[in-house]
Formats: sequence, structure tokens, C-alpha cells
Amino acid sequence: MAPEVITTIPQLRDRVRRARLAERRVGFVPTMGALHAGHRRLMDVARGECDVLIVSVFVNPLQFDRPDDLEQYPRTLENDVDVCAAGGVDMVFAPSMSEMYPSDPVCVIEVGRVADHLCGRFRPGHFRGVATVVLKLMEITQADRAYFGEKDAQQLAVVRRLVEDFNVPIAIVGVPTVREPDGLALSSRNQRLSADERRAAPVLYRALKVAEQLIRSGDGDVAQVEAAARQVIEDEHAVRLEYLQIVEPREVQPVDRIDGPVIAAGAIWVGSTRLIDNVICVPR
Ligand code: PAF
Repeated sequence: MAPEVITTIPQLRDRVRRARLAERRVGFVPTMGALHAGHRRLMDVARGECDVLIVSVFVNPLQFDRPDDLEQYPRTLENDVDVCAAGGVDMVFAPSMSEMYPSDPVCVIEVGRVADHLCGRFRPGHFRGVATVVLKLMEITQADRAYFGEKDAQQLAVVRRLVEDFNVPIAIVGVPTVREPDGLALSSRNQRLSADERRAAPVLYRALKVAEQLIRSGDGDVAQVEAAARQVIEDEHAVRLEYLQIVEPREVQPVDRIDGPVIAAGAIWVGSTRLIDNVICVPR
């Protein structure tokens, strides 16, 4: 069945109020649209755990650090609604800019150390924008559970701390990354890759798997593991490494030695497209 497309906050609140009165569990998948099989996986997991499922589609200007990236971000609402229909979604919340931000926000969420490394270091203000819109969306949807992809490991860590620090009554569920057969993590940004760029892009996953392999085989030396993984990327001349770093999973901070589960995370530029990925690594 086609989901109901809702564009205003009062309308969505009314539907959610009725669902909650009927003691139905409300699930929420926040997205910026351009939905793909990775989003479908979030919907499938949510559908299995909730009675009512809301997907938001909103390209949040607050989290873009480059105007060209915001401009080029794919906007495909009609197709997104079809993906949601196939995913058994009940409501698509697709607010306009003025519905979400009637005026420039005066209050925003400042994210501390969880945003200091990885993407936070290279995208100033990005996690302030993410945390601010996610808190707004959680307030608007009043959902019981919200679903986020593990591909955005730092975003997931930020959202978990946001909910903890502000006592938001919502369960945050991380869902494993969906990959193409050659390992490339699904992302809305993959659409922008040329054929040659698409061929080069899986190098990031291969590099992270090298890190995972070394860690699994007992290498606890962070500098050594990072250097071996970086080398894989440096050998692929069609891409440029932004960062590759080993961090602990809760607050994504660098570690001195690997003696517990860590995340190997990286970002590369393939032409003018920035791709990120990560692998959870558990030492033997
Ligand atoms: O992961 C995303 O698509 C966005 O960062 C989110 C969580 C929908 C906030 O705009």
C-alpha cells in the first residue's frame, strides 16, 4: 500500500498521537532521500520491530559544509515514496524547508569530543547540523525507536550520545552496512560516480579489510595497522585519501593500542565525490 505523504508537523503529530493512543509502537527512519537498498534494510529491520513506520525525507542544509554538495544532493521524492511503499512504510514525512526551519535556528546542538576526529575534523559544523535536525525530528515524530546505518559510524555515535545526554525516550538501533558485491558500501553519493570512478571506489573497503585482517591476527600496533591500510589506498591513483583512522566505538576517539573492539574508518575522494566507510574490528 502507498504510504501517506505528510508535509506538515501538526499533521504528523496528529497521526502519531492516534497511533500511540492505540498503544502501537512507532518506528522512525530518518533519511535525506535518494533512497537505496541500504535504506530499505533500515526499513525492513524497523518494520519487523514496530507497528507503525515513519520515514522522513529532508535534505538538511544545516549539515552541509559545502554549498555545491547541498546543491548536487539528489532529490528524488517520487521514487523515494515508491521505495517506501515497497518497504511497508506507513508515513513519509517530507517537510519543506520553511516547515522545518521557519527562521534561522537560534538554538543548535554543539557536539563535543565525539565530533573531534574522522569526518568531524574535515567537515566543520557537520555534526552540529546532524544532531540539531535529528533532535528536531525525534521531537516531531515522538517515535519509540529510530534506525540508523552503521556506515555512518560517527553519526551513530553522536546520535547515541545526543539521546543519552538529553534523556530522549527513544531506542537507537544501528543497522549493518549494505554493500555491493565488490564491497562498496551503498550510499546516495555513489550515483555521482563515473564508470571509472565506480571501478576505483571499492579500494576503501579493501583497505579497511586489510586493517581488520591485521587486527584479527593479533597486530595491536595502531600506527602499523593504519599505515598498511593507507598504503592500499595510496596505491590506487584514481582516489585521494582524506583520512583512515582506528578509533574506539563509543566516542570514536583514537586509541594507543588495539586491545579490544575498534572501528577502522576512512574517507576518500573519488573525483569530486567523497565516500566514507568503516569496519568493526575485533582482535583475537
Ligand atoms: O544519515 C542521514 O541521511 C542524515 O544525516 C540524517 C540522519 C537523516 C539527518 O539529516
